[in-house]
Formats: sequence, structure tokens, C-alpha cells
Amino acid sequence: MKVDGRPMRTIWLEPDGWAVGIIDQTRLPHRFETMRLETLDQAAHAIRAMLVRGAPLIGVAAAYGVCLALREDASDAALDAACDTLAKTRPTAINLRWALGEMTAAVRHLPREARVAAAYARAGEIAEEDVAINQAIGRHGGALIEATARRKVGERVEILTHCNAGWLAAVDWGTALAPIYTAHERGIPLHVWVDETRPRNQGASLTAWELSRHGVPCTLIADNTGGHLMQHGKVDLVIVGTDRVTAQGDVCNKIGTYLKALAAHDNGVPFYVALPSPTLDFAVVDGVAEIPIEERGAEEVTEIAGKTADGRIETVRIAPDGVTAANYGFDVTPARLVTGLITERGVVAPNRAALAAAFAERAGAGRA
Ligand code: MRU
Repeated sequence: MKVDGRPMRTIWLEPDGWAVGIIDQTRLPHRFETMRLETLDQAAHAIRAMLVRGAPLIGVAAAYGVCLALREDASDAALDAACDTLAKTRPTAINLRWALGEMTAAVRHLPREARVAAAYARAGEIAEEDVAINQAIGRHGGALIEATARRKVGERVEILTHCNAGWLAAVDWGTALAPIYTAHERGIPLHVWVDETRPRNQGASLTAWELSRHGVPCTLIADNTGGHLMQHGKVDLVIVGTDRVTAQGDVCNKIGTYLKALAAHDNGVPFYVALPSPTLDFAVVDGVAEIPIEERGAEEVTEIAGKTADGRIETVRIAPDGVTAANYGFDVTPARLVTGLITERGVVAPNRAALAAAFAERAGAGRA
């Protein structure tokens, strides 16, 4: 997508052909800063501290982290240690583990001297595959928005989204926002309600930033507003991203997604999930019982960062001193609340049979 008219991706190889460039997303929306990663530790830190975040981007960043590790030591032991370090950075998004599996499979069978080149080649492919997958999700989801527009004859389509599943969460295009960008480019009149997405405010700082930079009409709302809007007919459909979808179609996504799904269900609003296939985890069936939910630092709840009137970025405390806070990063929306999964192969029903039929080659590797 474009930043100030300049085509931009979230991750790239630097001109030297080996170091990895990223956008430091912790600085957005007030500063646009890029950063150069040269070591495994820097890559692991970038994922852990959320300089890069979003399930697809975490996977690609981990793939490049393996490349950086192998440049220093291409032994089996170094490969295993790098995968171990990277796997521990964030527990919930399955793309991370998927990408590490892909990288291991691409290099393990090779002699040491061939591993670095093979690793960069596979990481590059994973990045390009992400772009192609998201473009396909854009086409299939865009058709849903277009169908809604036809029913509304001339009125704009109202879409609600949660967290950031835009191009900043992927290599390009994004998952949940790809249908929105696609429909917008086709001239479909639309408007996006952007949940602020406490506690880290990825909606306020990232989704509102990328949509407005791209010229897509959007309005930021406090997280608790969605139900009210749905009761008053102000949401035609919800589209969210996901960090992991189970074999039976349960959807793990940013904390608060489940509440939006309940409100959508109660108000008859279609609730769609944009699902790239690397986010499918056929090894897990019951998402509520089985998916590990990341718990992050209490300060993300008790403090908030922002820009002061004189342009400084400051963090302030919003809770009483000494109060404790719980910070669960994700929740699970049961498949029964999901209208459809927008995948690169079309819209798939959220159930075991439909997912296994659509992704037969992946389903075979799952649990019996
Ligand atoms: O904690 P984050 O920012 O890495 O969370 C991931 C997300 O942005 C969302 O959960 C998103 O909807 C899924 S990633 C496309």
C-alpha cells in the first residue's frame, strides 16, 4: 500500500540483500520510522516487543529471523536454537510456528553451505505468498461488500472492524482490510467503524492511520460502541482478522472480538473473518479449551501513551497507583457465531467438513 504516495511494505530486504527492514509500529501513528534488523536477537525482540505484529507479519519476520541466525551459524543446533528463540516470542498467532516449520523444512536437508541462500529464498517466497493470499482474500471479501452495496442501492456500506488486520499486520494489503481496500478501489461507497482496541489501541493507532492515509472513510470508536451501532442498524457487516482458526472453525483474535461477535449475532449482522491459510491450525479443535492466550504486562492496561500538545510522545498512568491489572491479548469466538471465513480460496463455512474440504492438503497434517 502507499504511505504519502510511496509504495510501501511492512518488511523488506535492505539494499545489501541480507539485513531486514521493518516499520517500527510502536512509533505509529505519530512517527513513521523504519529500522534495520541484522541479528536473530534483534528479530526476536522486534516480534516480542511488537515493533512488528499481526499474525501474518509475525510469521514473515520469524522466517527472516531464521535467515539472520543461519548467516552466523548454519548448523543444525543453531537452526534449532533460532526456532526455539523465535517460537517463544509470542504464543498465540499460529503463523509464527507455521513459518518456522516451513523454514526448517526448506533448509534442514541441505548441506550447511547451501542453507543461507535456501533460507532467504523460502522467506522471500513466504512474504510473496502472503501478498498473493491477501489479494485473493480482497477479491472474495470485496465481492461480499459489493453484494451488500447492490442491496443498499447507492448508500454506503457500513463495516466494523476490530484491532488491526490491515497491511500493517501483513506484508501488504492485510487480511480483514483487503476486502475493504479492494471494494474502495472499485469505487464502492463504504465507511469503516474502527474499534480503538484497548489496551494497545491497534485500531486507534494503526487501522485509523492506514485507512485514512489510503483515503478510506473511517470513524474511530471506543471499544464499547459496536453493540449500540448494531442495534441502530449502523453496521452492515463486521470483518475481523484472526491469529488462529481451529479445525472446527473457532476463531482466535484480538481481545474483544468475541463480544463483537455476540453483538453481531444478537442483531443479525453478518460476522466475517478474513483467514489466510497459514493461520489455520488443524492440530487444534476446541479453540476455547486449547489455544494458549498471550498475557502481557499490566502496564499496557494501567498506562497509555500519546502525543502532547507540543508534540512530545508521553506515557501517562490512568489507573490508581498500586492497582493490579490483567491483560489477556486474545479471545476465542466459537464457530457458531461466525458467518463465514474469507479465505484465499473463497468464503468457507466455519465448520470441520468445509475447512477440511477447502484445505485438504493441510487438514491431513492435523489431529485425527
Ligand atoms: O497483538 P497483535 O497486534 O499482533 O494482534 C494481532 C492482530 O492485529 C489482530 O488480532 C488481527 O486481527 C489478526 S492479525 C491479521
